[in-house]
Amino acid sequence: MRLGNIVPDFSCNTTQGEWSSFHEWIGESWCILFSHPADFTPVCTTEIGRLALKYEWFKARNVKIATLSVDPVDSHNTWLEDVVAHCENGVTIEFPIIADADRTISTKYGMLDPANLDDKSLPLTFRAVVTTDPEKKLKLQLNYPASVGRNMDEICRVIEALQLSAKSSIATPANWPNNHDSIGMKGAVFLLPTVTKEDADKHFKDYKTCEVPSGKDYLRLVKQENLPQ
Ligand code: BEZ
Repeated sequence: MRLGNIVPDFSCNTTQGEWSSFHEWIGESWCILFSHPADFTPVCTTEIGRLALKYEWFKARNVKIATLSVDPVDSHNTWLEDVVAHCENGVTIEFPIIADADRTISTKYGMLDPANLDDKSLPLTFRAVVTTDPEKKLKLQLNYPASVGRNMDEICRVIEALQLSAKSSIATPANWPNNHDSIGMKGAVFLLPTVTKEDADKHFKDYKTCEVPSGKDYLRLVKQENLPQ
């Protein structure tokens, strides 16, 4: 599980039926595999509800969502009724939840938390966000402990950043898109240091080089609407 490597394939049972291959299910999409520690726990209940509210947002960007815990499918299905009842917007859960009762997948993916054990003293999954591109390469992984619920807006933000940097030779600044407002470049992105001046002049309309004491010209901002198509 290293950035840039293809994530492991697996077969499994899910709330939407059996899969012979996770990779086949992903197809040509981006994918986020979310693990959670356990069904019928409070933070996880809110996370799945908030994730469901973003389902259409992800779908519009060709991102498939799957979640996973070490509970069996019948537990997932019963629990989902609680998730829907607790989520104030009356969501439907359109994405599958994988059952990893024997921990094969979470072991392969390194998603088990030795500090969080079930009643048989076996480790539960932590809150992983495993994000892959259409080639099934790991592009980003966020790991949270059981005690911290994830912010779905942040996950949408990183998907936008990943997809933007997959299309153009850019990188997103800290706190993007809430950056560089004070110089009239709100939401602008940086040209990669590997973009030559010649290419920058040719392809990135109205990019702005920020002056710094070193005199080096590596802080080159371009507005999103001026990125090459
Ligand atoms: C929760 O989802 O609330 C939770 C799960 C496992 C440990 C602690 C909290």
